[in-house]
Amino acid sequence: MASTKIHIGKFNFENCFMNAAGVYCFDREELEKILNSEAGTFVTKTATLSPRDGNPTPRYQDVPLGSINSMGLPNLGFDYYLEYLLELQKTHPDRTFFFSLVGMSPEDTHTLLKRVQESEFNGLVELNLSCPNVPGKPQIAYDLETTEKLLTEIFSYFKKPLGIKLPPYFDMVHFDQAAAVFNKFPLTFINCVNSIGNGLILDDETVLIKPKDGFGGIGGEYVKPTALANVHAFYKRLNPSIQIIGTGGVLTGRDAFEHILCGASMVQIGTTLHKEGPEAFKRITEELKAIMDEKGYKTIEDFRGKLKYL
Ligand code: SIN
Repeated sequence: MASTKIHIGKFNFENCFMNAAGVYCFDREELEKILNSEAGTFVTKTATLSPRDGNPTPRYQDVPLGSINSMGLPNLGFDYYLEYLLELQKTHPDRTFFFSLVGMSPEDTHTLLKRVQESEFNGLVELNLSCPNVPGKPQIAYDLETTEKLLTEIFSYFKKPLGIKLPPYFDMVHFDQAAAVFNKFPLTFINCVNSIGNGLILDDETVLIKPKDGFGGIGGEYVKPTALANVHAFYKRLNPSIQIIGTGGVLTGRDAFEHILCGASMVQIGTTLHKEGPEAFKRITEELKAIMDEKGYKTIEDFRGKLKYL
């Protein structure tokens, strides 16, 4: 049968699927459910220096075609997740995990990354440059000058494997400009995409979530075409050493197959995981393997990036 094993940098994973930061990753209990599922690994909720309550509720709503959220980075703080990750390194030495984090300021981000650098953490860092939901804080990666400055500073001291979670871009020129910046750095991966920021979904005459008068990040089916475009645009532009994690609109094995055809190595699942729970990993993995078997693909690398044009 087909194998969905994959590597990111020097790390091997038994399955190419994992959760997207924000879903099933707030605390140990949730992370343990992903750990014990069919997923190849997990990423933590984006950690900030201090714990955060996040935005007022209701702040997440599933809808038929996806989800809207304005969580505002609620999390238990950097120390909580680092402690758990270091514990897992001892209990599961054969596995590798992703640590999502970002500071509320560039200074905070440097403090966090310096602490990771000094720690025993030996997994991958996913630096979140794309949260659309913290009032007054822009999505960092839409400002390429700030992003380049931040990455320049980070890579002067940070020597562990690091990737960045990106917002969706919508213009070919922006793909060119963003890729030119990312190619200057020894990034292990980029993750395309975070939610499509600041959408509005209504129920009759009323918004669905409380923060920001209802504006929130859109996930699920709505997002797949945008996510595939971002994965493929960067696949064509980035140095081959920078791998891509595809996130957005993965409901089925077919959706994952498309992400991989567009160039993704790993595939993250957010809205569907929220709707279905961790059993979703088994179903989607089986569906992907069935497609691979039917097409005669034995490994992810047999078809990764091999999207056909007319
Ligand atoms: C949030 O906590 O607001 C969602 C995380 C994100 O979009 O990065």
